Amino acid sequence: MQKLAIQGGYRLNGEVRISGAKNAALPIMCASLLVADDLHLSNLPDMHDVHTMVKLLQQMGVRVDSESQAATFNAAQVDKLEAPYDMVKTMRAAILVLGPLLTRFGEARVSLPGGCAIGSRPVDLHIKGLLAMGADIHIEHGYIHATAARLHGAHICFDLISVTGTENLMMAAVLAEGITVLENAAREPEVVDLANCLIAMGAMIEGAGSDTITIVGVAKLHGASYRVMPDRIESGTFLVAAAATGGCITLTDTRADILDNVLDKLRETGALINVCGDRISLEMTSRPLAVSLRTAPYPAFPTDMQAQFMALNTIAEGSAIVIETIFENRFMHVQELQRLGAQIEIEGNTAVIQGCDHLDGAAVMATDLRASASLVIAGMVAQDETVVDRIYHLDRGYEHIEAKLSALGAKIRRFN
Ligand code: EPZ
Repeated sequence: MQKLAIQGGYRLNGEVRISGAKNAALPIMCASLLVADDLHLSNLPDMHDVHTMVKLLQQMGVRVDSESQAATFNAAQVDKLEAPYDMVKTMRAAILVLGPLLTRFGEARVSLPGGCAIGSRPVDLHIKGLLAMGADIHIEHGYIHATAARLHGAHICFDLISVTGTENLMMAAVLAEGITVLENAAREPEVVDLANCLIAMGAMIEGAGSDTITIVGVAKLHGASYRVMPDRIESGTFLVAAAATGGCITLTDTRADILDNVLDKLRETGALINVCGDRISLEMTSRPLAVSLRTAPYPAFPTDMQAQFMALNTIAEGSAIVIETIFENRFMHVQELQRLGAQIEIEGNTAVIQGCDHLDGAAVMATDLRASASLVIAGMVAQDETVVDRIYHLDRGYEHIEAKLSALGAKIRRFN
C-alpha cells in the first residue's frame, strides 16, 4: 500500500499545467463503442481510472493504440458486450458502456456498480430512461442485462439531476430511431464535452449545457478526432491548495469560464485571482477567511470541490458552514481532518468548521478521491509531517499529483 509523506509549512509557488478532465474522458472513451471507425482522443489524463477504462474497452474487443496523453480507439471488432463486476466495482463510470453497447449492438450485460464510500450511488435513472426507449432489462446475479432490437426516441424527465445518467441516455439516443428529449438533464461541462465529441462524430444534439437536451437519432456515426477539455476539479484543487498554503501559482491549459462559482468562493477567502485566456493565477497574501458553501448541480458549487474547501476552512479565520446536498456520505474526510486538530462538527449533511491557527501533522487515511485531495491540502498546511495512507484513491483521479505539487514547492514524497 503506497503512502504520501508531506512536510507542512511550504507555500506553493510557480506554474502547473492542468490535465484533461477525468469526468469528460471517461464518457468520451465509451463513445468509441458507437462506431466502427477510429476515434482519436487527445489530452487524455494519465491516471488510473483512464487506464481501467482502456482495459475495460479492450476486453470487449476495442482496439486501443495509446500514445502519450492520447489514444486511438476502434470498436469495429467488439465481440464481448459485457462489463464484468471485477472492473465495474473499482470504477463506477464503467456503467457508461451500457447506453453505447445497447444502442449499437442491441445487447449489454453490465454489472451493477454497487455503492462506494460517498454513497449508495444507484443507477435507477439510467435504467428507467432505457426502458422508456424500448429496452428490455432484467437485473439478475448483480448484472443489468439489457436487450433492444432498436431503441426508439422518448421524452425523458429525470426525477433528479444525474451526470452519468444524462451521459448514458444521450449516447443511447444518438443511434435510436427518432427524437429523444432529456429534461432536467445535467448541465455539467463534461456533459457538454461529450456532446461536442458526439456531434463531431455526426450525432445530432442540441441543448447540451442546458436542462433540456434534444437528440435526433441517426443511422450511423463516423470516426473523429477530439481533444478532451481541461479538468476543472484538478484546477480547483490546485487553486485551493495555493490559497491554503499562502502561495502564488498560475494554472496553464485550463478554463476559467467553467469555474465561476469556485473562483468566487476563492475570492471570498481573500485570494487575488487573475484570468488570462487559458491561464488562471491566484495569489494569497494573508490568512484565508472562512467561506461557507452549499453543493448543488452545475453551475452551482460542485460537490467534487467540497472536501478541498473544507481543508482550507480548517485553518481559515472565522467559522464556515458546509452543506453537502448531492451525496449522503461525503464527509468521510472530516474524521481524518479532526486527527490533524481540525475543529469540525457534523449535523446530518451540514458541517460547521471553526478555523484554527494551525493543524498538527498526523497519520491519516484516504477514503475516496476528493477526500484524499483534502488530506493532502491539510498536510501541506499542518505543522511537521502528515502521512496519508491508501493514496490509490488519489491516483484514480489526479495525474502525477505529487510531482506537480513538488514542482510548486511542496515537500511531498511517495513511499510503500
Ligand atoms: C458524476 O457521478 C461524477 N463522476 C462524480 O465525480 C460527481 O461527484 C457527480 O457526478 C456529481 O457531480 C463522473 O462523472 C464519472 P450523479 P454520478 O448521477 O454521475 C443520485 C469524482 O470525484 N442518483 O450526478 O455517478 C446519486 O445517488 C466523482 O470525480 C440516483 O439516485 O453522479 C446522487 O445522490 C465522484 N439515481 C445524485 O443522484 C441514479 O440513477 C447525483 O448523482 C443516478 C444518480
